[in-house]
Amino acid sequence: MAYSGPFQPGDRVQLTDAKRRHHTIVLAAGGSYFTHKGEIKHDDIIGAHEGTVVTSAQGGQYLCFRHLMVDHVLSMPRGAAVIYPKDAGQILIEGDIFQGARVLEAGAGSGALSMALLRAVGPTGHVYSYEIRDDHIGFARDNVVEYFGEEPNWWSLRLGDLGEVTPEDLGGPVDRIILDMVDPWNYLDQVTKLLIPGGVIMTYVATVPQLMNVVEGLRAQRCFTEPRSWETLLREWKVEGLAVRPEHRMNAHTAFLVFARRLADGTVAPRPQRRARK
Ligand SMILES: C[S@@+](CC[C@H](N)C(=O)[O-])C[C@H]1O[C@@H](n2cnc3c(N)ncnc32)[C@H](O)[C@@H]1O
Repeated sequence: MAYSGPFQPGDRVQLTDAKRRHHTIVLAAGGSYFTHKGEIKHDDIIGAHEGTVVTSAQGGQYLCFRHLMVDHVLSMPRGAAVIYPKDAGQILIEGDIFQGARVLEAGAGSGALSMALLRAVGPTGHVYSYEIRDDHIGFARDNVVEYFGEEPNWWSLRLGDLGEVTPEDLGGPVDRIILDMVDPWNYLDQVTKLLIPGGVIMTYVATVPQLMNVVEGLRAQRCFTEPRSWETLLREWKVEGLAVRPEHRMNAHTAFLVFARRLADGTVAPRPQRRARK
């Protein structure tokens, strides 16, 4: 699948009609797609630039763009709830997912975060994705393959329990660990051994009790920096003439992010000083 340039066979194309309804097709030479306004010939799209309007047999007009990663994530089949793009963006930047990084994630779920990690680390890095459920791993694999057009060779998607992963399974300690699972605090003893000194661990948890458990769990390991916790609120705005205001609806809560860095072995971090109460 190409990511830019004129449309080619194999591209996943999003057609948007005048009512902003989306239809997704995969281009094939000689292929057709039937809308309620008649046939669209794939050959009318192949070779055209993105942002072209294609007209169906009965005069329907459709704007053509390739799927962005965000379109794919929000429309793909899911086994488990995905990490939303606003949070995946935070993980990539705050978690410092660099080109060439070796990253461990659990669980793979529907593969949404795997995709973002794979694209960020690129072929010189490696993503190890562990997933305990056989049915979920199928969603993750299919979704990633559909996005990249093939299974990236810098990805190891493994059916297994995070609690049983050893440094040898990963070819040594990793640079970054991202946990999106119900009880990450139960795996901190384990993952501490898998993360390189200076490495970043981030967890994604939906509820306050989970947040408390994971932050206390990180502190109890005594080998991480003081954890930072936050959530990201994304509010879209309507901008039409004088109607310039926040949208009425938003996804107000997805999950909390927790961030910490691994200390060198044997290091005890200075305790953060708090002001004495008067
Ligand atoms: C919310 S989903 C992850 C979604 C994923 N981050 C995404 O963006 O598509 C959580 C996943 O963790 C998996 N899981 C739970 N415990 C696990 C464990 N001990 N080892 C590996 N995977 C686990 C679950 O089966 C589930 O698929």
